[in-house]
Amino acid sequence: MKVLGIVCSPRKGGNTEILVQEALAGAQTRGAETELLTIWDKNIKPCDGCLSCEKTGECHIKDDVQEIYPKLIAADGIVWGTPVYFWSVTAQAKMLIDRSYALYTNNRLSSKVSGVISVGASLGNVAVWNLFNTFFSVHHMLSTDFVYGYARNKGGIRKDKHAMKASAELGRQMVSIAERKFKYPEEYDVALYRFVKREYGTANCVGRDRFTD
Ligand SMILES: Cc1cc2nc3c(=O)[nH]c(=O)nc-3n(C[C@H](O)[C@H](O)[C@H](O)COP(=O)(O)O)c2cc1C
Repeated sequence: MKVLGIVCSPRKGGNTEILVQEALAGAQTRGAETELLTIWDKNIKPCDGCLSCEKTGECHIKDDVQEIYPKLIAADGIVWGTPVYFWSVTAQAKMLIDRSYALYTNNRLSSKVSGVISVGASLGNVAVWNLFNTFFSVHHMLSTDFVYGYARNKGGIRKDKHAMKASAELGRQMVSIAERKFKYPEEYDVALYRFVKREYGTANCVGRDRFTD
């Protein structure tokens, strides 16, 4: 059982990192092998929209995301951690989400158990949850619960006892769910909008004649 924790904060050793570490420690108490992945030390470029990954299943951009792809594929559980930035995720988190399109093409994140940890100074945690849940759903990942912490200054999250405890429980919950080995049914191997297009021949994109047939 492998659990990967991804910290999408540009701040080294920040609040998100502290909570994701708590989650990994929780997963370890249930026997998981864990790895912490930070983003502040990575070179991550945004998706350039070339769509070549739809044909090749690979992203052509040669940066540190190439080392992250195999870690995502190898993980049974993934904790996605991000600070709240302007009522949403960080740019780093969004770049990683967009670059996961290369794994979406071949459904390579399907049935992985995923959870979210976010930290904000005041408002915006719910928007993070909404964004990640859509991301999980499209990839056919399995969603665990959501942890939200409140802190502004580096390390301040340690005072948020609720978030610290909830993060550790999230890690444990993730292992418990992953152990059940739930798999999406093979016939639903792609997101529903693609499934319907394939099965019924109906175009799904406005740009691909959705309304003309
Ligand atoms: C550019 C920027 C935007 C932010 N926007 C929000 C926000 O919309 N809502 C909020 O509650 N906190 C906001 N914050 C505060 C951070 O979420 C907070 O400091 C958090 O603890 C940082 O986590 P980290 O230590 O893991 O980087 C923002 C911080 C920065 C630097």
